[in-house]
Amino acid sequence: MEKFTIDQIKSWDRFYRGNFINSLSGFKSVSLIGTANAAGIPNLAIFSNIVHLGADPALIGFVNRPLEAAPHTLGNIKETKSYTINHIHIGIYQQAHQTSAKYPKDCSEFDVTGLTPAWHSPIHSPFVAESKIRYALQLEEIIPIRQNNTFFVIGAITDVFLDKSLLENDGFIKIDEADSLASLGIDGYYKTEKIDRLPYAKATTV
Ligand SMILES: Cc1cc2nc3c(=O)[nH]c(=O)nc-3n(C[C@H](O)[C@H](O)[C@H](O)COP(=O)(O)O)c2cc1C
Repeated sequence: MEKFTIDQIKSWDRFYRGNFINSLSGFKSVSLIGTANAAGIPNLAIFSNIVHLGADPALIGFVNRPLEAAPHTLGNIKETKSYTINHIHIGIYQQAHQTSAKYPKDCSEFDVTGLTPAWHSPIHSPFVAESKIRYALQLEEIIPIRQNNTFFVIGAITDVFLDKSLLENDGFIKIDEADSLASLGIDGYYKTEKIDRLPYAKATTV
């Protein structure tokens, strides 16, 4: 096994180093975040730094890059406090990836990718009609991360949309059966396959 120190890693080419560090923390869920500004102009962008924060209250966090790199989703969320998160499946991953391009503020990524906005009044933000698992959030808090000028955005789940056939009897969502993808780095997309579900682990005597 080879050892790489952080000084070695820092000496590498920027793109090589980026791919290496971006893959290191492992597979992530990947989704499209839908927003609209106060005037109702929609925006859609792909995000993979999305994390479950707790079930009660039901909170989800995501990391937004510095504002100059990724301004539109965060700007709309600040303006309206509303956003949607939409799982990506194998049928839409290329269109989903395309939303990461730097489009101008007034350009809707729905229009350029051909993905369909779905509006569920009174929720202000658009969902992705093609997505099989989608949910709406209300902004709770934006925490600036001073080390790298990113933001941790915390939202409370308000509404969830999915087909009931994706639910196990105990509430577990079979997201693999919805063909939801996982991602690695910023350009690797993966199918998932369940191995097992295990019983609640109890401490054993040693
Ligand atoms: C697979 C993938 C995952 C991404 N994950 C994130 C992320 O978690 N946070 C982020 O700020 N940008 C992420 N991006 C980049 C954004 O999609 C990109 O900056 C986008 O233009 C932001 O758009 P906005 O300005 O409309 O919000 C990711 C891109 C790709 C391709």
